[in-house]
Amino acid sequence: MKIGVVGATGEVGRTFLKLFEEYKLINEISELRLFASERSQGQEIKVGSKRYTVEKLQEDSMKEKYDYLFFSAGASVSKKFAPIAQESGNVVIDNSSQFRMDEKIPLVVPEVNAELLKNYRGIIANPNCSTIQMVLALNGIHRDLGLKEIVVSTYQAVSGAGNKGIIELLNQEKGINEVKHFPKVIKNNVIPLIGEKKENGLTFEEEKMINETRKIFSDKEIKVFPTTVRVPVLYGHSESVFFRTKLDSSVDEIMKLVESTPNVEYNEEKITPIEVAGSDITFVSRIRKIEEKTFLMWVIADNIRVGAATNAIRILQKHRELN
Ligand SMILES: NC(=O)c1ccc[n+]([C@@H]2O[C@H](COP(=O)([O-])OP(=O)(O)OC[C@H]3O[C@@H](n4cnc5c(N)ncnc54)[C@H](OP(=O)(O)O)[C@@H]3O)[C@@H](O)[C@H]2O)c1
Repeated sequence: MKIGVVGATGEVGRTFLKLFEEYKLINEISELRLFASERSQGQEIKVGSKRYTVEKLQEDSMKEKYDYLFFSAGASVSKKFAPIAQESGNVVIDNSSQFRMDEKIPLVVPEVNAELLKNYRGIIANPNCSTIQMVLALNGIHRDLGLKEIVVSTYQAVSGAGNKGIIELLNQEKGINEVKHFPKVIKNNVIPLIGEKKENGLTFEEEKMINETRKIFSDKEIKVFPTTVRVPVLYGHSESVFFRTKLDSSVDEIMKLVESTPNVEYNEEKITPIEVAGSDITFVSRIRKIEEKTFLMWVIADNIRVGAATNAIRILQKHRELN
């Protein structure tokens, strides 16, 4: 396979490279090309036993033929370069928000809606990190009981904002109190604003959780009420999820439905971000029945892996299997 990674020096990009080794894809890759901005041009990155030189992203490179191209360099880079790659007949797995709500573009979590990948070539959108782990946890429940509404509060790690988010927290912990990328100090703090606030008061991150959940579940009727919050954690997003179902159920059945989705585990031990960082599993715990058809649970996953790179690798694997 010939593979290209756009944004290879970033948090998500570097995780792709790790996963190529972990998922043994590296043995099947005959050519690997790494792209980033001019800042990283010439940098060397080791993948498996070989060293690769980072190239500056240019239109001509996107016109070449690849088996798969991964994009994780932000929405504006995807907007400009992904259509060029698509026009050349390439399959592009895009981690940015650029194409997620485009009706023609599949928004895929393979454990939930892999069928969209069959006979499809072109841009495939990877959902937002906080949406992926939530729909994975709720998938079996939505399928068998029907979901009426979801109220979710997130506790999102600084790595969700990329390298710069991690650096900002680490700097503040060292006493450098510069506030650049987050709207407030993040050290010893909690910030209930991720992304810009819209006129209706929702942030862009909250709007993504509403729209993407409906698109992935192909259900425009589901009501989603999110509050997205940044916390001073390096890796791992946590979510408190309150949901109402159409059919009644029990805590035992909810546990079974949670685990009916591959790569989702009910586990009362793995409940904090530190315990899930580095894992490709979405962990669910503290399932509570509040009243008839009304439940609460805690959902936790590594945002860079489950919420970005691992989902993209699973898209590649499923796409190959189905085509
Ligand atoms: N972090 C997460 O949890 C997460 C989850 C889901 C989706 N995503 C999405 O994935 C994308 C990347 O996120 P990240 O966390 O990996 O960010 P990051 O750590 O800031 O990395 C950004 C990457 O994009 C490259 N880049 C920036 N501007 C570029 C340009 N003009 N041309 C070419 N490359 C450019 C950077 O290269 P340089 O090193 O040269 O600057 C770097 O490789 C974003 O769209 C983000 O929304 C992130």
